[in-house]
Amino acid sequence: MIHQTVRVVENAPMAERTYRLRLACPEVAARIRPGQFLMLRLPRTTDPLLGRPFALYDTVLENDKPVAIDVVYLVVGKMTAQLAAMSAGETLEVWGPLGQPFLDVGCPPRVTLVAGGIGQTPFLAYARELLGTRGYGGDPPRARTAAVALYYGVRTAQLAAGIDDFRAAGVELHLASDDGSLGSQGYVTQLLEAHGKTGPLVGCGPEPMLHALAQLARKWGVPCQVALETPMACGIGICFSCVTKVRTTDGWDYKRVCVDGPCFDAAQWMWDESAPSEELFKN
Ligand SMILES: Cc1cc2nc3c(=O)[nH]c(=O)nc-3n(C[C@H](O)[C@H](O)[C@H](O)COP(=O)(O)OP(=O)(O)OC[C@H]3O[C@@H](n4cnc5c(N)ncnc54)[C@H](O)[C@@H]3O)c2cc1C
Ligand code: FES
Repeated sequence: MIHQTVRVVENAPMAERTYRLRLACPEVAARIRPGQFLMLRLPRTTDPLLGRPFALYDTVLENDKPVAIDVVYLVVGKMTAQLAAMSAGETLEVWGPLGQPFLDVGCPPRVTLVAGGIGQTPFLAYARELLGTRGYGGDPPRARTAAVALYYGVRTAQLAAGIDDFRAAGVELHLASDDGSLGSQGYVTQLLEAHGKTGPLVGCGPEPMLHALAQLARKWGVPCQVALETPMACGIGICFSCVTKVRTTDGWDYKRVCVDGPCFDAAQWMWDESAPSEELFKN
């Protein structure tokens, strides 16, 4: 893991309350793999005190060498509001790469990604890796599948971010929105179910959506993994603030999302409706 203070190259608006932040960190960019994440912390302040986790959106190449990392974030609270006010040339504390890459899906003819809310962010680099148009973490590009579909659901059209990036990456897009202002009206898992059985599935988004996806995967009998966005305090396995319940051979166990995840086999993941209050993570 690398811990350093890095320069903001760009902080560009993408959609309502959504920005793409480009960070000059070649060492992290050379090592990070799709599915992994970074912790970002504002320097010279204790408010907020803790860093916040953000998925790799993509790495930026210069002369075929990774020189920067893009993350895409939605403004929801204290840290992300301050991030939105940052300009090129300012600095941020970064540590990463953190967590595990996406689980191996083998070489199926097609992989279906399912995103809700800001859950599309880990999928751009992953789609490129699966289609073999980019290699990550020092690996050369290698196609694992012929087709990647993204089912992407948002509350309303103004919140949809990165659609052009996914199209340019060769991803087949299926869009849904709660209010019908983009794609079909309803939940993205309803759209997926209406299109019929496909697999394997990879989901990222609000936990109720992931739970619906896990149930659909079980009904269809297809492999499914979920990328969790559990609130985190340290990101490196020390504080146990990020645990989730996972089935084991002798019952269940708590797993730390930051080091054992953030991706878990949906068949093992135990969705917890009574998760600890997010009040714990407010400083
Ligand atoms: C592995 C991982 C990858 C992530 N990747 C991204 C990403 O690419 N883009 C992105 O925008 N966000 C991502 N997140 C979520 C992001 O970390 C939170 O949105 C961020 O921590 C909010 O910080 P804040 O200080 O702005 O909000 P706070 O002031 O801490 O909280 C504001 C509100 O949001 C709630 N909240 C905070 N964090 C979460 C959370 N994780 N889940 C649900 N509610 C939460 C709080 O309870 C509160 O109501 C990721 C989370 C994880 C664990
Ligand atoms: S965030 Fe501290 S153990 Fe996972």
